[in-house]
Amino acid sequence: MKILSIETSCDETAISIIETNKDMTNFKVISDLVISQIAIHAEYGGVFPALAKREHAKNLVPLLEQSFSKADLKKEKINLNDDKINKINKILEREQETSKELINLINTNNVIKIDLIMVTYGPGLAPALWVGINFARALSIIFDCPILPVNHMEGHITSILLKSNYKKEKEAILPISNFQFPMIALLISGGHTQIVLVKNWGDYEILGETIDDAVGEAFDKVARMLGMKYPGGPKISLAALNGKENKNIKFPRPMLNSGDYRFSFSGLKTSVRYKIENIKKEDNDMINNQTISDISYEFENAVADVLIKKTMNAINEYSARGLIIGGGVSANNFIIKQFKKEINRINIELYLPEKQMCGDNSLMIATAGFIDLMNKKIAFISHGGKINAIGNLKL
Ligand code: KG4
Ligand code: ZN
Repeated sequence: MKILSIETSCDETAISIIETNKDMTNFKVISDLVISQIAIHAEYGGVFPALAKREHAKNLVPLLEQSFSKADLKKEKINLNDDKINKINKILEREQETSKELINLINTNNVIKIDLIMVTYGPGLAPALWVGINFARALSIIFDCPILPVNHMEGHITSILLKSNYKKEKEAILPISNFQFPMIALLISGGHTQIVLVKNWGDYEILGETIDDAVGEAFDKVARMLGMKYPGGPKISLAALNGKENKNIKFPRPMLNSGDYRFSFSGLKTSVRYKIENIKKEDNDMINNQTISDISYEFENAVADVLIKKTMNAINEYSARGLIIGGGVSANNFIIKQFKKEINRINIELYLPEKQMCGDNSLMIATAGFIDLMNKKIAFISHGGKINAIGNLKL
């Protein structure tokens, strides 16, 4: 079975094609492409939803075309009768250009026949999600196939299943029976900060989440205060490499001892803002590179302390057998290094995504959808049927 997966929840437009094995226990990756809009949003200091939506609409057909042409699979001719064309035009009535390009692409006959479509339906930016969903619906008309809506956060959790050499492997994911439950998942991204109890693949319970900013968002906002461009996470982390303990630069560890799994990062961000303002006031509106590095270093330490304490508490409380860390911020070397130290002490497994799987991508959506298929926890939407984008979708 050939599956096409689509991700458009934020500022990455991504399409993958996977092919399942006969007994439906694994799959191989046929193609996996992503276009990042980072450069476009950088000017605005964050993701601008209307712009994200427009860019997704522009990127989807070229990405699909490349997915087809790169794939080492037989190309086929798909007949589009007037009824299908009318339905596609209706579904994509707000993206007429996309509709035209899509129909042209299908008419080139350089197409791979798809049996199932998976698409992120939340959480994320609603306008951005809608573009991907409607594209999926149009494709399901073209291929006469069902759609499986997928939760983006389950994508981040299951991203750790992809083997390090997943692009070349006949079986791209680790055998799911290799894992012992329960596990704890820490999901840290630009939109989320959650501790999740993973009772089994496909069976999740959110134990706690941020009550204000997400970790990635805090990284981005602090970076902006320090004059760094969006996305700030990687830049803070680079600056922190030259940072050191500085008795004049100390930040709070919000809710460290709250005794639950909630997080708060807006107070930490504000305290960084005051510190920067004070330093600048004393020095003719200047801040030197060493101070920027020291602030970055202390900020990363504060974040790591809170994430680690709460996550370790959850591991203890639920006697977890493994820890999964997923989402864009899991690319942060310092935070991961600190976690490794803690996890080594208690001798449980630590599961991390491959670096290129940390950020948003469609292969993690295919993986999560595949897990849902295996678990038969599925709600197919057939042939162009309605799917709602749910911006605040829960696990
Ligand atoms: O998962 P993701 O790609 O998109 C969302 O679903 O939000 O996460 C993006 C976030 C951004 O806030 C970015 O600054 C942060 O992940 N990020 C990092 C690092 N790399 C990306 N934060 C800290 N350190 C990094 N190395
Ligand atoms: Zn994400």
